[in-house]
This record gives sequence, structure tokens and C-alpha cells, in this order.
Amino acid sequence: MGLIPQHIIDEVIGRSDIVDVVSNYVTLKQAGRNYKALSPFNNEKTPSFIVSPDKQIFHCFSSGIGGNVVNFIMKMEHLSFPEAIRFLADKVGVSILEIRSTTESQDNIRKSILKINEMTVEYYHKHLISDKSSAAQKARDYLLKQRNVSLEIIEQFQIGFALDQWDGLLEHLKDKDINLRLMEQAGLIIPKKQRDGYFDCFRNRIIFPIFDTQGHCRAFGARTLEKDNPAKYINSPETAIYTKGHHLYGFHLARESVVKNDFIIMVEGYVDCITTVQAGIKNIVASLGTALTVEQVRLIRRYTKNVIMLYDSDKAGEAAMMRSFDMLIEQGMNVKVTSLAQGEDPDSFIRQYGVKDFANRINASKTIFDYKLNVLMKKHNNANTIEEKVAIASQMLPTIKKISNEVLRSGYIQKLSKVLIVSEEALNMELKKISDKDGFLSNEVGSSDKSMGLLQEKFNNIELNILKSLLEENKFIPMIKNEVNLEDFKDQRIRAVISKIYNLFEEGKEIKTSSLINDFEDQEIQQIISRVLVDDQNGLGNKEKWHRDIIARFKNDRSKRYRQELLQQIREAEASGDQERLEQLKKRFNQSIKN
Ligand code: GTP
Ligand code: MN
Repeated sequence: MGLIPQHIIDEVIGRSDIVDVVSNYVTLKQAGRNYKALSPFNNEKTPSFIVSPDKQIFHCFSSGIGGNVVNFIMKMEHLSFPEAIRFLADKVGVSILEIRSTTESQDNIRKSILKINEMTVEYYHKHLISDKSSAAQKARDYLLKQRNVSLEIIEQFQIGFALDQWDGLLEHLKDKDINLRLMEQAGLIIPKKQRDGYFDCFRNRIIFPIFDTQGHCRAFGARTLEKDNPAKYINSPETAIYTKGHHLYGFHLARESVVKNDFIIMVEGYVDCITTVQAGIKNIVASLGTALTVEQVRLIRRYTKNVIMLYDSDKAGEAAMMRSFDMLIEQGMNVKVTSLAQGEDPDSFIRQYGVKDFANRINASKTIFDYKLNVLMKKHNNANTIEEKVAIASQMLPTIKKISNEVLRSGYIQKLSKVLIVSEEALNMELKKISDKDGFLSNEVGSSDKSMGLLQEKFNNIELNILKSLLEENKFIPMIKNEVNLEDFKDQRIRAVISKIYNLFEEGKEIKTSSLINDFEDQEIQQIISRVLVDDQNGLGNKEKWHRDIIARFKNDRSKRYRQELLQQIREAEASGDQERLEQLKKRFNQSIKN
């Protein structure tokens, strides 16, 4: 992040108008001093996406995402910070030359790693196909004979083998004039702990290259053949071209079939994906063991909105699926679930029952509603007691809440009411209690007078208001700094922002709210800032008075806390019979009341 000179960053942000930039993606409508639109990050019917031209920031109430023009471009175009700066620099005509050196060197690293990965794929693949060592022979036998993977599929997925050597790949790449630093940056070699030098990351493992949609290898997964090796798989670390959770295994081969069938099957494992493709079902990808991410779903959404989840039928697979449901619905996907017999995975199922049965299972997949209800009913003893009914309802309702189709939603409520033997009315009342977004941001943009209050759920309202005061009127800074200590802020994140503001002020620097956001990488902090700034509840009335009120409330709060602590200590002193201390504490208490 620090690579682009700060003055260039400032100039790019200064010259970009957030309203102009955002208008290229969504239709903005004027609403008071701000602009409103339907969120580009969420499916929504009522606009909750706000742009403030005065403050040059945006905030999306439905997703909680917020920030300045750079954050917006990062999100929309899936770019890193320097990439987004460069993107904007192009648009507003800030000299690219000045920043080229830095971004270009990043570009070069990416290109080099892609090239190295390509050579590495070839190297590993060649060894799996034809290396004479007994280790390679064993790997070949394992895939071809034990797992029945065909040579054709090994070709298609470019599966490989890392020999049982410490530096096979390292020496191979060295011969090709690749320097060690780059190999390390590609995540292929590791520095030795005790001595100088490096060794290969993957040794004596079957290699599954992970390709992006364009078919470029971004990373590797490596499976051991040893039954008792605790690390069944090891994966590439994150690199300049690989972020975990941003890719799906097998997607480059599945794309065509996904479009043709207009749905995608999602499995957990490399081998499940490979086996199913070999059996002739090609619209399938693997999420690679981690929880499904928003990035992965967005990747899919470009090709289809229909997902069938088919994770391993064990506890871990079930839990991973359950966790992903709400996010999938939020992203506007239609999701169904296929389950196999306990302990089965797609690979073992197809081997045992064949692909026809497998296709039948896919066709008979259940809705999320039915699947989740079924899992919960089993888990909670078929809802025999009232407590079990409550437990099930409280987990079903947030999912139902996310469904935007009213007919579907009321249908599900009806069904849930029948299954749990609970009135629809009660379920609907509980449904109303669930806020649209758990956490600190509300959906109710229309009622901005209420919105500040809703922040309270997660953040201290008064602390937020002080932050707002500092950000909006720099002239209040000295006074607040005098009266309020940093340590008095309970919320770490708010404290971090305020500390930064104090520092800038002390250094005599201008405090530009829109660039302040980029001093923080914590997205929650960015959201606090944008959220506080789009709130124009206090834009009208008397600012000085409002400001004084806030400070008074803050101090009041602080002394209340102080007195509570004293009372606690007094009780302790009484209990332990420490008279001297008791007197002292009582004196302090009386003093604090007088103040
Ligand atoms: P087989 O057991 O050979 O059928 O492989 P599989 O790919 O089906 O593996 P499994 O069902 O055990 O796990 C599903 C996925 O989770 C794998 O494909 C990996 O992506 C991931 N995974 C499993 N075990 C590990 C591990 O030890 N480390 C890491 N990083 N990932 C793992
Ligand atoms: Mn498996």
C-alpha cells in the first residue's frame, strides 16, 4: 500500500468525484444533500446505498460496505488498493508515469509468478506421467488403479506429482534462470530455518493445480499418499496472484457446461470434482474445504444463479453448507441441496452406485428450507418440547427472512408452522424482530433520525457522535482533545480513529475525511467512518449546541462508570473489613458526586 507516493494518492482521490465515478455503475437519485441508489453489492428493492458529494464517501446500509472513491472501485472492480488508484488515475488524468514504476513492478511480479506456475505445472505433470522413481510409480498406481482416474482426466486437470526430493523443483527452476526470491514469492519454496538456503514446499505429494477461469494456474493443492500423515493436503500460501477463497477448483473446465445447464454443482474435494467430471457431469466445481465465500459466489453468478450444494455427508460437510446458506440467498442465488448416505462423498457414491444414480440424486435435490429444517429436526429431537421448537425456529427464521419473494416466504412460514405446531402469527412476530442485517447497520435509510440510534447495538452511540463531531468540524478538535482522554473511549476501533485524528491535528496536517478512510485496513473501521459521515441527522440544527451536548453526555457517562467502579471497590472493602481503604473510597465517591 505504501508503494505509491502519498501525494499521488491524494491527487487521485482529490480529482475523482465520487458521484461521477459511482454513476458509471448505478443510477443515482438526489435525496437532500446526498444521493441514493439501489445497492450494487446486494439485491434490494428499496435503495439503501448513499453517496455524499460533500464528504466524498459512500455507504451501503444493506451490506454495511462503505468508504471513499477508492474503496468503491476496489469493491466494484475487484482490485487491490494500488490497482484501484491506478484505475482512477487513468480516468482523471493524473500522470501514470509517476506511479508506473511501483504498480508495474507489482504487475511484473504477478506475470512472473504466473509464468513460474506454468513451468511448475508442467514439471509436476511430467513426473506423474513418466518419472521412473518408485514414489512416482506409486502415485501413478494410486490414481489410475486405486482411484480409477483416467489418463485423459489427469491431462485435463493437469494433475502432477512432486517427487520425494528436497529440491527437485528448486533446481529445475534454477536451471531456467528463475531466481530464488521469485520462487519464494510464488510460494513454491521455503527458507530453511537453521541454515541458509531453501527447500521445496511440496514433496512426495500428488499435485492438483488450481486454475482461474482463464486457465492460468494460481496455486497448488498437494495430497499426501501416506495414510497416517496428519496433513492430508497442503496448499500454496497466498501470493500476489492467489487469495484463498477467491477461486473454485475446476471452474475453467466447468464454465461451458454451467452455462449450458444453467446450474452448477458445488462439492468439497478435488477428487469429488474430478471423479464426477470423469463420469460425464461437467458443471461441477470444488470449493476446496473452506467455507464458501462471497467472492466465489460472485464468480459463479456471472454464469448462473442456480447452485446445487453437494458436500460430504458428514458433520463437517453439513456444518459448512448450513453456514453458507444465508450468504448464498443474500447474493441472490437459488440454492438446492443434495445429500448422500451418511459418510458418503460424490467420489465414493459414483464408484459404488454409478453416475445414473448420482444424476437422480441431483435431480431430487431439496430446497434449502427443506434441507435445513430436516437437519434441525434431527438435531433437536423432532421438536418434541417447546424449547426445541424455539431452537429450530430461531435458526430457520433468519434464513427465511433473507428470502425476498413474499409468496415464497409466507409459504415457508406456513410450512414451518405446521411442522413445529406453532402458530403462524407467533412465527411472523419473531420474524419481524430480526433486523435485516445482524450487527450494527440498519436497513432503514428513510428514517435517518432513527439510524444513529440503531448503531448503538454494537457501538457506543455517544462515542460515535464524538467521532462525528471531530470529523465534521475540525475546529472542535482542540476542545475535545482537552476534555476527553483517548483511554476514555471504550471501543478500540473508535479509539484508533480518534487517535489518528489527534495525531494529524498535532502535526498540523489537514484532516481529509475521505482519505482518512485509507489509513485503516480494518473494514469495520472504514465502515464506522463512512457510516458516521453519511448520517446527516445533525446537519441542520445548532452545531455548537449539539456538540456541547455530546461532550456533556460523554463526561456524564464517564463519571457514571467511574462511580460504578468505586461502588464495586467499596463493596469489596466492606467485605474485607479494610476500614482505612473504605474511608478513602467513600471520600472519593462523595467528591465525584460533587463534581
Ligand atoms: P480424497 O480423500 O482423496 O477423496 O480427497 P478429497 O479431495 O475428497 O478430500 P476430503 O474429502 O478429505 O476433503 C475435501 C477438501 O478439503 C479437499 O479437497 C481439500 O481441499 C480440503 N482438505 C482436506 N483435508 C485438508 C487438509 O489437511 N489441509 C487442507 N489445507 N485442506 C484439506
Ligand atoms: Mn473424498
